[in-house]
Amino acid sequence: MKSAVHTHRARHTHALGIDVGGSGVKGAIVDTMTGAFVGTRFRIATPDKATPQAMGRVVARIVRHFSWQGRVGCGMPGPIKDGRVLALANLDKSWIGIRAHEVYSDACGCAVKVLNDADAAGLAEMRFGAGRTLAGVVVVTTLGTGVGSAVFVDGVLVPNTELGQMQVNGKRAEERAAARIRKEHGLSWKRWSKYLDDYLHAVENILWPDAIIIGGGVSKKADKFFPLLTVRTPLYPATLRNGAGIVGAALAAASTPLKH
Ligand code: BGC
Repeated sequence: MKSAVHTHRARHTHALGIDVGGSGVKGAIVDTMTGAFVGTRFRIATPDKATPQAMGRVVARIVRHFSWQGRVGCGMPGPIKDGRVLALANLDKSWIGIRAHEVYSDACGCAVKVLNDADAAGLAEMRFGAGRTLAGVVVVTTLGTGVGSAVFVDGVLVPNTELGQMQVNGKRAEERAAARIRKEHGLSWKRWSKYLDDYLHAVENILWPDAIIIGGGVSKKADKFFPLLTVRTPLYPATLRNGAGIVGAALAAASTPLKH
């Protein structure tokens, strides 16, 4: 096993991508030239109290699991500027104002690049997934515990858009359109698609995108809800699905100079 790890380290194109979510923290070594996982993904359940300290320990466990010493990228919810978490809906509020890259770098003993999780997923979809041939204004929206978004203009990311926080029919869009809501409230596809459709209409009326890519685990069930959506913008299911956040975090790490 050790020799495999050393081979990973030797490859400059490999990076460890980590996706911090409301229910699980997942990591994998990624070949950033192809977007493929090198070996298998490793997942740890998100602690009930997802404080910076607790999450630092979880991320460090993932780094140790892979005996990884190269570049590390980590996607997490919330707008993140210069490594600092500015707002949060689905992790412990004690994160707000904290320099996430310092928390993770200190816990792991190596430099960790931190970015918004939906931005990470979007980067991966644009490079290797449904977005690779799409130009113009492309919105990638992830539907999971929350609703995330990544906006691209001719392939260039406009970071930290929080379209899931828009007010739609008097509520934050993610309080209705997140995939979690369908499951938790046992909503029919028809009922939930209406919420999603309202959110997508709000997005297209504001941004007039050329395409919208729908990601998150639910995108593999696109046949159940795509036919029920009525927006005029061409819609595409994400092709990398749940792996996108990991791949995109690794891509972000690979394009960042290594320093602590
Ligand atoms: C957060 C976003 C995040 C999304 C998906 C939302 O609650 O505000 O920043 O991208 O959840 O995790």
